[in-house]
Amino acid sequence: MTDAYEPRPEHRFTFGLWTVGNRGRDSFGHEVRPPLDPVEAVHRLADLGAYGVNFHDDDLVPPGSSPQEREAILKRFRRALDDTGLRVPMATTNLFSQPVFKEGAFTANDPEVRRYAVAKTLDAIDLGAELGATVYVMWGGREGVECDAAKDVRTALDRYAEAIDICCAYVRDRHYDLRFALEPKPNEPRGDMFLPTVGHALAFIGKLQWPDMVGVNPEFAHETMSGLSFHHAVAQALWAGKLFHIDLNGQRPGKFDQDFRFGSEGVRDAFYLVKLLEDSGWEGMRHFDAHAYRTESAEGVWQFARGCMRTYLILADKARRFAEDPDIAEALAEAKAAELAVPTLPAAISSGALGELRAHRFDLEALSTRGYGHERLDQLVNELLLGVR
Ligand code: GCO
Ligand code: MN
Ligand code: MN
Repeated sequence: MTDAYEPRPEHRFTFGLWTVGNRGRDSFGHEVRPPLDPVEAVHRLADLGAYGVNFHDDDLVPPGSSPQEREAILKRFRRALDDTGLRVPMATTNLFSQPVFKEGAFTANDPEVRRYAVAKTLDAIDLGAELGATVYVMWGGREGVECDAAKDVRTALDRYAEAIDICCAYVRDRHYDLRFALEPKPNEPRGDMFLPTVGHALAFIGKLQWPDMVGVNPEFAHETMSGLSFHHAVAQALWAGKLFHIDLNGQRPGKFDQDFRFGSEGVRDAFYLVKLLEDSGWEGMRHFDAHAYRTESAEGVWQFARGCMRTYLILADKARRFAEDPDIAEALAEAKAAELAVPTLPAAISSGALGELRAHRFDLEALSTRGYGHERLDQLVNELLLGVR
């Protein structure tokens, strides 16, 4: 089927090798799909119209590979990239799978573990830079704790900041064109994780040595797990100039980290998110950190990938219709949506301006009794999303 929602490279859609390569293992059951060769992933994603592919160090070069094996893997992978034109915009490190990280990586109590985590990250930064990545995601999968007696959170944050400062110093020294994006998550796999939300991460960045080199990588599932609005989190990251990357997927509140196909759950939140990204003109990658249902065969994975991209494009189209819809425009005027941009104080802050403000007679009765027409506006958006407008 070809229609207006065909993904193309200019849409800047990316997937992780670990997403389309997800084999459907969960805490209760084994893998249900065979391993996916990264070279095949590159070809299939290019055929579907994606722009790029991202990876953890271990997704591409299995741990324990010899230097010769690493070279051979990279050569094959690079050839696939050259043949298809697919790019590698982002790279990251796996600091969660190996047993050595069970107590943490950058925030492990044992300095030996922390040093290994930093060394592994510097190697992975080289690998990412070699393949052209300009964003480096840091997801603290094991940075957290269950036994609160065993770890002082403030000291753990000192160590977290130290590790990121080391990575920034390394990138500066190497003159890599690379920025870091911290990915918040409230829990899973740890009972409580550090930097649990976008807000925590934004505050943390201000304490780093090179805060300009560090932003955030918010994930739909993770903010939703916390019961928070993803699009509000992304809006605040944009407002702070800190949206360096984004992880799109589907999630219901109160559940485990589902990482479902984008838009499969929370389609209304997904709409406001897409509208925000499109309206803001954000130029980053539309990255899907999601995986196919465990019920899918190897072939079904490509339906999943296509679905993520199509839903994004359909919602982007809905966002355009939202902007052109005369009834919605009328309802927005009733909601005084545009007036939020009017400064509260018409003049510069001065004692004169404040005096005038305080002397003003406010018609509290009129202000209190007026309606804002939200019911109509909200229903119009619902009807737009449900396809009857
Ligand atoms: C998760 C995370 C990861 C990270 C990935 C990139 O909850 O498993 O979202 O998928 O995004 O490790 O750093
Ligand atoms: Mn997730
Ligand atoms: Mn993620």
